Amino acid sequence: MKEIKSIGVIGAGTMGNGIAQTFATAGYAVILQDLSEDALARAGTTMTGSLARQVKKGTLTQDAADAALARIASTTDVAAMADRDLVIEAIVERLDVKTSILQKLDTICRDDAIFASNTSSISLTQLAAASTHPDRVIGMHFFNPVPVMQLVEIIRALQTTDDVADAIFAVTAAIGKTPRVSKDSYGFIVNRLLAPLINEAINCVYEGLATPEDIDSMMKLGANHPMGPLALGDLIGLDVVLNIMETLYDGFDDPKYRASPLLKQMVSAGYLGRKTGKGFATYPA
Ligand code: CAA
Ligand code: NAD
Repeated sequence: MKEIKSIGVIGAGTMGNGIAQTFATAGYAVILQDLSEDALARAGTTMTGSLARQVKKGTLTQDAADAALARIASTTDVAAMADRDLVIEAIVERLDVKTSILQKLDTICRDDAIFASNTSSISLTQLAAASTHPDRVIGMHFFNPVPVMQLVEIIRALQTTDDVADAIFAVTAAIGKTPRVSKDSYGFIVNRLLAPLINEAINCVYEGLATPEDIDSMMKLGANHPMGPLALGDLIGLDVVLNIMETLYDGFDDPKYRASPLLKQMVSAGYLGRKTGKGFATYPA
């Protein structure tokens, strides 16, 4: 089995910076790449804040937090992925964009590099088919906020080899996360359940059944959810929720996954949740 020592993360947004931070805290050297300098700067601020939170809580020393940050190099140049053992992509949830980055990585990376996608819903088999090395493509689905959430959902493409899957199980355990397997299917397990819940909560707002605050409060008080579905949609990003619903709808060809008209409107308006400062709630900068 290949031992993974160096990590590349493509996309420094909500998920990419959390993934980079988690690997760096576990002692891995990480290169974090994004097209946007601004996104890399924001990622630096988020990771610094998240590590400071852990230091304040007493789960990490200041030295360990400083060392973690020092293990992360940021760049806009994807060619920096050339020497990485494992490259994890966390860019926009669209098949065409994800396949084009996989194809680019094929031309840049070493012959034994593993390509993991943090996709929320897209078929890994479909993604792998776009690569010239489909046997080395796998789904490694982290949850938001990455430093806090225990699960990594692992999804093998039909083409993924046992060796690659074993290496991904080993590295997941090494960063202190808990791997669970789903077969390749749109939305896998967690988002097949979670995205329709959030979508239906948005339909409840659309139909005027209750205020967003009351809907969230009902799910916290009545179902013991740690946060309400609308606050969760804002945390995930409403654009990501819409992309997941569209993948479920198109993939299963089933109208039960139809995206809420209000979800579509929120995304058109640029009200994407926490990352834009406004979704079903407003968030100070
Ligand atoms: N970095 C580091 N630590 C963080 C953190 C961050 N970004 N955010 C929260 N924490 C820590 C806090 O320090 C705190 O630690 P202790 O309990 O040990 O003190 C703990 O997490 C809880 O934080 P808070 O007390 O500030 O807030 P909370 O109790 O309201 O919890 C939450 C926040 C962890 C986000 C919680 O509300 C929660 O679990 N919500 C549900 C999250 C969820 O469902 N995520 C999955 C989304 S779906 C997905 O990710 C897949 C997809 O493809 C879309
Ligand atoms: P995001 O919009 O917060 O960040 C995406 C980042 O990727 C941006 O900074 C953007 O500049 C960058 N980017 C776009 N195209 C790029 C390219 N070609 N090369 C390099 N960088 C590029 O998105 P996110 O919420 O972090 O989601 C990323 C992926 O993770 C998606 O597939 C999403 O479905 C999945 N995911 C999201 C969540 C969540 O809660 N947000 C949870 C699990 C999985």
